[in-house]
Amino acid sequence: MDDRISDARFGAGVDPAYLAPDYVGTRLRAPRAPLVIVPETLSERTGPVYGEAALAPTDADLTRQHAGEPLGERIVVSGRVLGADGRPLASQLVEIWQANAAGRYRHEVDRHDAPLDPNFSGAGRCLTDAEGRYRFVTVKPGAYPWRNHHNAWRPNHVHLSLFGSAFTERLVTQMYFPGDPLLQVDPIFQSIRDPAARERLVSAFALDLTEPEWALGYRFDIVVGGRAATPEDRDDD
Ligand SMILES: [Fe+2]
Repeated sequence: MDDRISDARFGAGVDPAYLAPDYVGTRLRAPRAPLVIVPETLSERTGPVYGEAALAPTDADLTRQHAGEPLGERIVVSGRVLGADGRPLASQLVEIWQANAAGRYRHEVDRHDAPLDPNFSGAGRCLTDAEGRYRFVTVKPGAYPWRNHHNAWRPNHVHLSLFGSAFTERLVTQMYFPGDPLLQVDPIFQSIRDPAARERLVSAFALDLTEPEWALGYRFDIVVGGRAATPEDRDDD
């Protein structure tokens, strides 16, 4: 996406404010001077992007990446990736990463006193099909504390990254779950000022994606660019 679009989205409250004082990390990292717009050149539009390597069959099923199954509530997360004009974007690399069911990341800086799961890495990827559809099988991530303020807990969420067809189309965001009481008190979610844009980060429970005797389904469509764009959620918490 180019910078003019990004600026318009920011002005409309779609993307989170760079400085959101309640989200303590932004106090240090928010830019203090106007951004310098770097002109887009052919190399940004045509440069290589990641994701050309072949995907393994288990990349999109986070419950089958180890010898045993991870603990937790098995879920299906699926949706479509759409362009600003509503057209499906085929062959898009969608990557996800998340905490395990206990709210712990398999990462050395995660010191939350919750167990790791030897059968869960928490990362997956897949390509969208001809209709822009993607589908992951995983377990519902747990909420976790993050020390932003006293008694701060992140809502259940799945991080997502889309590379698009060039570096300038990169989208990093988060998917939340419907009815989560922590959304109202989460400074990261609340740093997106437009309530309608915030709601676009909340998935919908979907009975048609739910598989009998097996897993609940959640639908999360992702719109890259335009007025109905899925907001960025740049944090790494
Ligand atoms: Fe997270």
